[in-house]
Amino acid sequence: MKHALITGANRGIGLEFCRQLAARGVRVFATCRTSSRELDALASSSGGAVRVIADLDVASDAAVERLARDEPALAGVRLDLLINNAGVLRRESLDDLDFERIRLQFEINSLGPLRVTAALVREQKLGRGSKVAIITSRMGSIADNTSGSRYGYRMSKAAVNMAGATLARDLESRGIAVALLHPGWVRTDMTKQRGLVDVDESVAGLLARIDELTVSRTGGFWHSNGERLPW
Ligand SMILES: NC(=O)c1ccc[n+]([C@@H]2O[C@H](COP(=O)([O-])OP(=O)(O)OC[C@H]3O[C@@H](n4cnc5c(N)ncnc54)[C@H](OP(=O)(O)O)[C@@H]3O)[C@@H](O)[C@H]2O)c1
Repeated sequence: MKHALITGANRGIGLEFCRQLAARGVRVFATCRTSSRELDALASSSGGAVRVIADLDVASDAAVERLARDEPALAGVRLDLLINNAGVLRRESLDDLDFERIRLQFEINSLGPLRVTAALVREQKLGRGSKVAIITSRMGSIADNTSGSRYGYRMSKAAVNMAGATLARDLESRGIAVALLHPGWVRTDMTKQRGLVDVDESVAGLLARIDELTVSRTGGFWHSNGERLPW
């Protein structure tokens, strides 16, 4: 694998993807809304392997268009891997529903991966042999929902699961494989550093799933530990 593009690369799971891919010798396009001290440090110590592309809000049609069509760093580049990682979790319950917050989660968690993937396919940055990973959540699994609440997050991740399953069908004949991946319950800002696994262990598992991904396995929903998850 030579070239990978990651969304939400400035912290958490996205930043760790950049670290581990760069350590494998992959050239990483680390996209984010705003860079961080950690991502800048990684980029400057990487000898050019990690390139930061800021101002990429995955909820913005214009920003995604600009990335796919006009970003100079991507000129002539064919991506081997796209990781749709950017996401948000808001915590509304039935007694505290804020539809604006729910809409925002759809915009980022569901439409973001579809918007980025479709634009990069259209501009031929992704093609035969490329892989697309969507970092979803088992909280988007209807079969696995035993605890309720978190309406916007659950609904937006269920919707992105359908987007990924549909992309898998549409991209199969073009030789592009798609995986829906749950990272585990990971100690990041999103979980307020609670969680069961450290980010390095989660990302090592996610990369193992991506390594195994082929067009013949396209469209699956896996835990980072390799377990197949129910829809
Ligand atoms: N941590 C877990 O236990 C867990 C479990 C299941 C699934 N996940 C999924 O894993 C992915 C990464 O989560 P994380 O734990 O690393 O969370 P995190 O530490 O909160 O990081 C989220 C990342 O997404 C970015 N982001 C949010 N909205 C964005 C937007 N509109 N455009 C571009 N980037 C945006 C953030 O950038 P800013 O700094 O600009 O906000 C940040 O880089 C998410 O999709 C999440 O749903 C995480």
